[in-house]
Amino acid sequence: MKTDRYSSLEKIIKSNMFSSIFILVDENSHRFCLDVFIKKTKISDYNEIKIISGEENKNINTCIEIWDKLNYFKADRNSLLINLGGGVLTDIGGFAASTYLRGIRFVNVPTTLLGMVDASHGGKTGVDFKSLKNQIGVFSEPLEVVLDSDYLKTLSKEEFINGYAEVVKHSLLTNKLELSFDSLSKLDINKDVDFIIENYSEIKNEIVSSDKYESNKRKILNFGHTIGHAIESYSHISDSFKPLRHGESIVIGILTELYISHKMLGFSLHDLKTIKKHLLNYFIKIKFNGEDLDKIYDLLIYDKKNDGNRVNFVLLKKIGEPIIDQEIDKDLFIDSFTFYEK
Ligand SMILES: NC(=O)c1ccc[n+]([C@@H]2O[C@H](COP(=O)([O-])OP(=O)(O)OC[C@H]3O[C@@H](n4cnc5c(N)ncnc54)[C@H](O)[C@@H]3O)[C@@H](O)[C@H]2O)c1
Repeated sequence: MKTDRYSSLEKIIKSNMFSSIFILVDENSHRFCLDVFIKKTKISDYNEIKIISGEENKNINTCIEIWDKLNYFKADRNSLLINLGGGVLTDIGGFAASTYLRGIRFVNVPTTLLGMVDASHGGKTGVDFKSLKNQIGVFSEPLEVVLDSDYLKTLSKEEFINGYAEVVKHSLLTNKLELSFDSLSKLDINKDVDFIIENYSEIKNEIVSSDKYESNKRKILNFGHTIGHAIESYSHISDSFKPLRHGESIVIGILTELYISHKMLGFSLHDLKTIKKHLLNYFIKIKFNGEDLDKIYDLLIYDKKNDGNRVNFVLLKKIGEPIIDQEIDKDLFIDSFTFYEK
């Protein structure tokens, strides 16, 4: 898999190696991104497949709609699916492509910041199942990832900021000084967006290339996501909560897991407070009651990254030094929310 701004995609399309081309969009990427993509690639012969946006539609029913359309248009093993959209669309499009006829090739063209720095890379594809995030899926690499910040011009401010959560996560995992959290916090996230996309997506690509199937090193990318995913799932099933975006949930995951890191591994309290202040400039604080926390904790137990009843966390000893497979107890989990809400 290569990351590219159109040139490789143009080359493979011109080489006529595909019998047919499909472009998967949702209503927003159809409205805001499709014309731009067509103008830039000059693809003329394609069928469009349109799905409805939203995490609540990242499920097997939407997948069936995609398979249905591929079937209707007689897609074969040499067809190509181009996923033009945010992380929901590239996750589900990658999964639909990888399972249709035992796998057709696909290209990701992410149109959200979150997609550009994270979701479109690394080969994790899939859908949510019942109340669990990404419970059904396969590892499958896109042929190409086309990065183009022009698509961000139409993205709402909230969705743009949503992607910043994963950028901060990558900055906390790297030991490259020039990309560390300290360096990131000095950047202007609007003016420096091309630098951010290019470099912070590369942190993920480097980690993934050494451990494609998450047997070891890749697990560090789950930092912030053990609690974050449980919060995101809970916000989608609870009546007392508005559904939280992925990034909004991950920020809470990052801050609570950093607090746990402080208590268990001595992560610097000074750094913890600096990171909290920085993130809360961009993300509003959410309130949780005791019942919420019990239910979120129960969801953690079902998270697929855990062995049996153990909840495995990635914690940080310091910035750039993640430690995998850490077990925590429920009291510390509760305390971490007290710290977050303070
Ligand atoms: N596979 C992975 O490794 C990985 C990593 C991180 C996150 N994810 C997944 O990514 C998903 C979140 O992705 P997301 O935040 O991009 O959400 P999203 O795909 O839901 O996009 C957010 C919203 O923006 C709209 N949109 C997309 N591009 C637009 C544009 N250019 N202009 C205007 N509107 C546009 C979409 O239609 C949607 O309404 C979650 O499901 C998460 O699990 C996957």
